[in-house]
Amino acid sequence: MIFFVKTNIVAQNKNYEVQIETLLAKMTLEEKIGQMNLYNGFWEVTGPPPAEGSAKIKYEHLEKGWVGSMLGVRGVEQVRKIQELAVKKSRLGIPLLFGFDVIHGYKTISPIPLAEAASWDLEAIEKSARVAATEASAVGLNWTFAPMVDISRDARWGRVMEGAGEDPYLGAKVGVARVKGFQGDDLSAPNTIAACAKHFAAYGFAEAGKEYNTVDIGASTLYNVVLPPFKAAVDNNVRTVMNAFNILNGVPATGNSLLQRDILKGNWKFNGFVVSDWDSAGEMVAHGFARDRSHAAELAANAGSDMDMESSAFIGHLKALVESGKVKMDVIDDAVRRILRVKFELGLFDDPFKYCDPKREKELLYHPDHQAAVLDMAKKSIVLLKNDNQLLPLNKKQQKIALIGPLAADKNSPLGSWRLASDDNTAVSVLEGLQQYTDQVKYAKGAELVVGPAQFIYETKINETDTDGFEEAIKLAKASEVVIMVLGEHGFQSGEGRSRTKLDLPGVQQALLEAVYKVNPRIVLVLMNGRPLALPWADEHIPAIVEAWQLGSQSGNAIAQVLFGDYNPSGKLPMTFPRSVGQVPIYYNHFSTGRPNPVPLVFWAHYIDESNQPLYPFGYGLSYTQFAYSNLEFIQTDAAGKQPIRVVVTVKNTGKVAGEEVVQLYIHDKVASIARPVKELKGFQKISLQPGESKMVEFKLTEAELGFYNNDGVFVVEPGEFDIMVGTNSQSVLAKNLVIK
Ligand code: BGC
Repeated sequence: MIFFVKTNIVAQNKNYEVQIETLLAKMTLEEKIGQMNLYNGFWEVTGPPPAEGSAKIKYEHLEKGWVGSMLGVRGVEQVRKIQELAVKKSRLGIPLLFGFDVIHGYKTISPIPLAEAASWDLEAIEKSARVAATEASAVGLNWTFAPMVDISRDARWGRVMEGAGEDPYLGAKVGVARVKGFQGDDLSAPNTIAACAKHFAAYGFAEAGKEYNTVDIGASTLYNVVLPPFKAAVDNNVRTVMNAFNILNGVPATGNSLLQRDILKGNWKFNGFVVSDWDSAGEMVAHGFARDRSHAAELAANAGSDMDMESSAFIGHLKALVESGKVKMDVIDDAVRRILRVKFELGLFDDPFKYCDPKREKELLYHPDHQAAVLDMAKKSIVLLKNDNQLLPLNKKQQKIALIGPLAADKNSPLGSWRLASDDNTAVSVLEGLQQYTDQVKYAKGAELVVGPAQFIYETKINETDTDGFEEAIKLAKASEVVIMVLGEHGFQSGEGRSRTKLDLPGVQQALLEAVYKVNPRIVLVLMNGRPLALPWADEHIPAIVEAWQLGSQSGNAIAQVLFGDYNPSGKLPMTFPRSVGQVPIYYNHFSTGRPNPVPLVFWAHYIDESNQPLYPFGYGLSYTQFAYSNLEFIQTDAAGKQPIRVVVTVKNTGKVAGEEVVQLYIHDKVASIARPVKELKGFQKISLQPGESKMVEFKLTEAELGFYNNDGVFVVEPGEFDIMVGTNSQSVLAKNLVIK
């Protein structure tokens, strides 16, 4: 059994300051710097200790207490062995942290984070993170490098799959739900682990969506878009923060004291620790910011990076830097206090082996309760993009279903990217899911998507030429009443190092789609992808389109339940889908230009070869029923016309089946000292309605929703006129004017 309790209370950390000071006083400089050092797993623990090379050095460092945490060491036996070295061999016996990228599950895999965000269901997201924490903690891990709370507006960037999309308000809520799921309300419980909000900051704004690229953004975007999800995570007790690979306005994030010292540890009073990203300290040399690794260590430590991931810059150089006065002892002590604090809170000083219970390891991985939780999450993550003439849901007695496409029977790709611990081919495929409902489904692959193996660390080679399978698929489509086509990106076409310049269906898939369409246009297109795609042809021609992302272990079951109507889709896009790549970055919360409206001449803000409209806007998603919005009202404004203001709206299910709707509230501050976006999400509620049922939905607008950060990073609330909008997506809204005095 797993025990899941939704946490409403932010964990109150116990106070370990006395123990921390006592321990710190006993530590040598080398031991302190050791705590600031993170190594990647380097040695097969069941074999003999390494006899040479860097592995030997790392091993000796563990014995000396010169390592604070390990990455990628997992499994009770492995963790126990290495923890024993630290605890039993080193002078002070300080336990290690064991970190890993548990991004959307450990063995049992949830939908990719972008898909989960499409559920707008914070409870389900929290639960999904708890499942991940439960399995991760059962294999000895006590720290995950998640959630990624980077906002991104660029679908070309491969890591959009790992975040919550383009909006800072939704991003903050989702990030907090994940932090709560991983950490629970007691960090020392055996099934909770420390979370890590990453990548601080602005990594999602890499120019042209190219991985690791330059970030150059203004103060308004930094304070209002990039930072809010991090602040929300810190306000909700996230215990660690990871900095980033990118430079931000010329200063690498890892050596950035405005971000790490002034904002994070200063203004926000973050008292956990900052870990650098993989070798990001060392990479400051390539950025042209540090002369060498010693200089990099000096800049990183002084700027507030507390722990160095795998670059060996700290362990190699900090001692000399302290001795020469370039890094003050205070800087070291502050970093070590923070790291020890998290170790105390995890309960590692009470029992360094508390996450090393072989019984839990055996019982909990792939537990049926976890499968049930990720199935629930997967259903909620699906977005219905188009459903002409109610082609969906399919009739359960439907005869002659053709299932076509390279991803239709795939059991691996739906696990998505960043699922390092899960076993290959453990997802339920769409074919398997459909077979639970009917034996009338016939399958033809049509084409390969990938040539050769697809793996996390290598480039994925796409089939651009081989169309040999088309004929069989066309024949099958001709002989069928309805065709389900499963197309999209392979799970390893998104994630780190996977930027694209195209947002189409990779390889020969568009050709396959069009070829099948010619013989049977009754197509349900099931998309699997790790980022928004630009598919205007499909939108124009294909009657039903279902966005199924990469949904994890239970993928095929979730999709089948939606296709056959056992679950009524309720997901809404957390990121705008463009019509063409040239529109990117395209996002709903943009500013108005000085010439926003069409004029007879060419001189207005537009393209000559594409519309300004997205293919599908932020917040968009259909249901098998319909919802009508009415009676948008403000009530209980106080006598002075100030906040809080209650906004109410009536939502009615006008269709024939029960359904869930995400009711969204947007504001537009019409005149401000810093221009405000044309729309900003400031509230949402997921409600469920029976056919014919109405509900009054209420939102509160307080200063937190009405204000914004000025270019000095100061939060201000300015009186004046606002448009308040409530609706089913960012484009279809009821609007009403509100004056704040
Ligand atoms: C990624 C991080 C990740 C780290 C450790 C880096 O390449 O940017 O997000 O946590 O590797 O695996």
